[in-house]
Amino acid sequence: MSNEWIEVGSINDIPRKGARVVRMPEGDIAVFRTADDRIFALRDKCPHKGGPLSQGIVHDTKVACPLHDWKIQLDTGEAVAPDEGCAATFPVKLEGETIYLSAKPNDGCPNA
Ligand code: FES
Repeated sequence: MSNEWIEVGSINDIPRKGARVVRMPEGDIAVFRTADDRIFALRDKCPHKGGPLSQGIVHDTKVACPLHDWKIQLDTGEAVAPDEGCAATFPVKLEGETIYLSAKPNDGCPNA
C-alpha cells in the first residue's frame, strides 16, 4: 500500500535541533529537524519509559530523551548501546519547505 502523505507544516516551524509534535489518532509523532536541516519522524515515546522524545535535544542524528538521557537514533529509532529499545520511525519528506508525513510506521521496529 502506498503512503498517504499528510501535510504537517513548514520546516521553518521547527527550531533546528528541535521537534514539533503531530497528533495522530494512533499516538503522537515527533518530527525532528537536525542542525543541517534534515527531518526525521519518530513515535513521540521513548522506548525506555515513554518519555516525550519531542522535548529532547537533537545531536547530529540522535535525540537525547529528556527523562533519563537515552540516545535514540533518528533514522532507525533504535537506542544507542548499551541501552536497548526501538521507537517506530515514520516516512517523512520535504518538498521545498513543506513537510509531509505518513502515519504508517516504517518496518523494522518490533514493538512499535
Ligand atoms: S524514558 Fe527516555 S530515557 Fe527513560
